[in-house]
Amino acid sequence: MEKKNIDWAKLGFGYTKTDSRWQAEWKDGEWQEGGLIEDAEFHLPESACVFHYSQSCFEGLKAYTTKQGDIVTFRPDLNAERMANTCRRLAMPAYPQDEFVRAVVETVRANAAWVPPYGTGCSLYIRPVMIGSGPQIGVAPAPSYMFRVFVMPVGAYFKGAVKPLKLRVSEYDRAAPHGTGHIKAGLNYAMSLYATMEAHEEGYAENVYLDPATRTYIEETGGANIIFVDADNTVVVPKSPSILPSITRRSLVYVAEHYLGLKVVERQVALDELKGFKECALCGTAAVLAPVGQIDTKDGPIQFPSGMEKMGEISARLRETLTGIQMGEIEAPEGWIVKIA
Ligand code: PLP
Ligand code: COI
Repeated sequence: MEKKNIDWAKLGFGYTKTDSRWQAEWKDGEWQEGGLIEDAEFHLPESACVFHYSQSCFEGLKAYTTKQGDIVTFRPDLNAERMANTCRRLAMPAYPQDEFVRAVVETVRANAAWVPPYGTGCSLYIRPVMIGSGPQIGVAPAPSYMFRVFVMPVGAYFKGAVKPLKLRVSEYDRAAPHGTGHIKAGLNYAMSLYATMEAHEEGYAENVYLDPATRTYIEETGGANIIFVDADNTVVVPKSPSILPSITRRSLVYVAEHYLGLKVVERQVALDELKGFKECALCGTAAVLAPVGQIDTKDGPIQFPSGMEKMGEISARLRETLTGIQMGEIEAPEGWIVKIA
């Protein structure tokens, strides 16, 4: 199969229209049989619930070409499970989890020519999305839904990929206490857009959000979880009910403990403690593992000893091991890698 003619070295993180997408509709109280389509548009009534009451959610995962030349994806069962949890909280009908994995596999297979080759540093980003598509003017869940999976080749989410980022602690919150921070609802991202634009204008790559109830503990950024490394090389992972349970972060915790023999602690992390950490990194499907060199707070900047020039040693080992597993260079734990073609 001939690959698309793309300059992989210049590819950023953005939309490219690829050949096929998976679509399924929920109507008359059940999911109808899904399948591949070519139309990249949604055709919706002006009264569609998504336009008014933001009934929308999404997922993000990637497909890779391995060293062996296979096309694989990474832990799609966990995205299926998380989307089902998200749907429950948004009063949307969960897409059956085995059908979700099938939709991902079929969509990637149909777009195999778009999967970046091994060694390019690029991957195929997979975006499952669900919307309340039926008419709804009284405030209530939609009477019908669309589930779609589409894909696009992407490069690094943060320019420079492994160059340490500068972040700021945000004065805005992305989630409410007992709200929707732990699910992948579109509304969480709408909440973060103003703060993100402001952060970018001020020269920051991202915002760090604090716990919305007390504003004293570290939560995560708008599109990635945060991890720290302390002076004893223990990986410290912030714990909070309003953080999105990142699949990358959960995988890194396993890698730290089982591949690198590191201690991992999941606990609340106070803003006051930041000065004591020697490394900090963002992690997520899009971000992979991106080092953080500095976080600005209202009491001044905090610079991590790993600095602004290179990634800290533990962060680098975590990143290399995880990407090695995804690219077929390092043996994966049972069930993590799903072969597509
Ligand atoms: N946190 C937020 C708010 C996100 O949007 C994402 C991206 O999906 C993550 C964390 C990372 O999650 P994952 O590793 O499952 O992609
Ligand atoms: C992902 O990492 O897949 C996400 O959904 C994050 C988004 C901000 C691109």
